[in-house]
Amino acid sequence: MRYIVTGGAGFIGSHIAEALFAEHEVIIIDDLSAGHRQNLDGIPCEFVEGSVTDLDLLQEAFKGADGVFHQAAIASVPRSVEEPLTTHAANLTGTLNVLIAARDCGLKKVVMASTAAIYGEDPALPKTEEMPPHLCSPYAAQKLAGEHYASVFTRLYGLSTVCLRYFNVFGPRQDPSSQYSGVISIFADRILQGQPITIFGDGGQTRDFVFVKDVVQANLMAMESGAGGVFNIARGEQTDLNTLAATMMRATGEEVEVRYGPVRAGDVRHSLADVTKAKEVLGWEARWGIEEGLRETMAWA
Ligand code: UD1
Repeated sequence: MRYIVTGGAGFIGSHIAEALFAEHEVIIIDDLSAGHRQNLDGIPCEFVEGSVTDLDLLQEAFKGADGVFHQAAIASVPRSVEEPLTTHAANLTGTLNVLIAARDCGLKKVVMASTAAIYGEDPALPKTEEMPPHLCSPYAAQKLAGEHYASVFTRLYGLSTVCLRYFNVFGPRQDPSSQYSGVISIFADRILQGQPITIFGDGGQTRDFVFVKDVVQANLMAMESGAGGVFNIARGEQTDLNTLAATMMRATGEEVEVRYGPVRAGDVRHSLADVTKAKEVLGWEARWGIEEGLRETMAWA
């Protein structure tokens, strides 16, 4: 098969490319705004430098392809608040372009990255795909609108689409350098440098962390599945931040000081996915335990 990975030089996209290349032809489209060429070291693929906002580029690159894993996005809630128009272009216009190019080039399937941000601050847990959205940021609005476009393209043109609502994904190649990076990549970086870590709040907040290799598997199974629609991608387990910090230190044998700071504005207290639908429809469930995934992440960091 010939597969496109948009955002393929990024964190999740590069892991998808890595899982595909042995058996398939892989074409990466990435504008390198967040991704890095070195994420693709040792991964044979065709590389197209460009943005999903460029429809002509997509129409050209998608010719002869079978499916697309659409991972390209500006995946930052705070950035979307500061720059709604720029993030709209990447996250929504980009997604619409991917759908149009996929339709025009006769691709069999579009699997796209969505987000748990769609569930917002609604305290009801666990989150099921049928819950009404609770949008708290332009990012959440852009991703939900992308899901709606996907379903409209299925209805209008018969294009098969799957939207995967990622919860807190972690693993090697997640960039720790921004203050908005995932907490695990930040903690890994600091623990390995012997630097203190800061927990925002009392550390009792929870997240549903899922290892990137499980997310890759979800993407592959979604591509192969005859099913369409929206699926939560998570472990279906809550881990609090205090436990996370302790587990990460245990994984490395490094003890660092844990500081406590003010609660981060806009943070949700608890997050937990209901993952029944992905299991029943796609046959997917997370296989990597948190500790196992953390060991791989810390070994890379
Ligand atoms: C995550 C996603 C975001 C998505 C949202 C949906 C990541 C990187 N971000 O945000 O794209 O929109 O879920 O619900 O997966 N924390 C600390 N210390 C730090 C950094 C973070 O205590 O140095 C805390 C945060 O305050 C938060 C928790 O760790 O309570 C997780 O933070 P983070 O990794 O940024 O992810 P989310 O905010 O859950």
